[in-house]
Amino acid sequence: MSAPTLDRPAAPDEVALQAQFDATIAADHRIEPRDWMPEAYRKGLIRQIAQHAHSEIIGMQPEGDWLLAAPSLRRKAILLAKVQDEAGHGMYLYSAAETLGADRADLTDKLIERKQKYSSIFNYPTQTYADVGVIGWLVDGAAICNQVPLCRSSYGPYARAMIRVCKEESFHQRQGFELLMTMMGGTGAQRAMVQDAVDRWWWPSLMMFGPPDDDSPNSAQSMKWGVKRHSNDELRQRFVDMTVPQAAVLGVTLPDPELALDPETGRYRFGAIDWDEFKQVLAGKGPCNDERIARRRAARDDNAWVTEAATAYADKHAS
Ligand SMILES: [Fe+2]
Ligand SMILES: [Fe+2]
Repeated sequence: MSAPTLDRPAAPDEVALQAQFDATIAADHRIEPRDWMPEAYRKGLIRQIAQHAHSEIIGMQPEGDWLLAAPSLRRKAILLAKVQDEAGHGMYLYSAAETLGADRADLTDKLIERKQKYSSIFNYPTQTYADVGVIGWLVDGAAICNQVPLCRSSYGPYARAMIRVCKEESFHQRQGFELLMTMMGGTGAQRAMVQDAVDRWWWPSLMMFGPPDDDSPNSAQSMKWGVKRHSNDELRQRFVDMTVPQAAVLGVTLPDPELALDPETGRYRFGAIDWDEFKQVLAGKGPCNDERIARRRAARDDNAWVTEAATAYADKHAS
């Protein structure tokens, strides 16, 4: 059953199916893989879920760079668990995309060919071990703000995947904060390292919520369909409001002289985001875009034999 297109009018049964879909969305019930759905809804979801999955997978790289250099066995175990969680998040999400008819290998190819995007944040380098803490605190913190509302997304498999993902993101955020608290209680050099990492990651973290609402082409439709529940700017504001008091507890300064509590709204005002930088990074010109994609390509190519062997094994058992 396919959705009507511009050059082909809807058949009567499609009108009824569309009405049923609209009623499900209006009642805030879930759309499941067996249900009819408009083609644009399916394609939009595949785009969003694939982008999310790619971000989890590429997101393993900046922190993975520190696995061999973690300063203690405890830190290594925590970081290893966190990076493995991100791999798991990618797998849940690719599975959710498969329920919409997408092919996992095809999605990976599209990522490597740069036909699909991933979060711009992972194109920045991790320069010191403090970056691991700051990624947990700010990047996973921003991910939580973005993803908690997705637990109520209209597409069932996506919403359910998000419930477990969010629980794990919450562990990631806390391990980052705990690492930073430990460093802030250390030497002057360690405190300086944390502040330097905060200075580098603060603005890219705010960019994680995507372009401002008046420049976000997919947002309105996504909100109408109940996939997205809050606008980019609203989520960004929530993140700032949540994070500023945490920065005070840590004893770090957020690199924005305009950051101030608005006594009327009780929310924090903040300075202008450099959207040119965001667009540059998204266009592939960030500090690490080429490295991230090259490594993902090598992982696909070097490990192709594993996929082939596993597929052959599964085929043999199926016959
Ligand atoms: Fe994740
Ligand atoms: Fe995470």
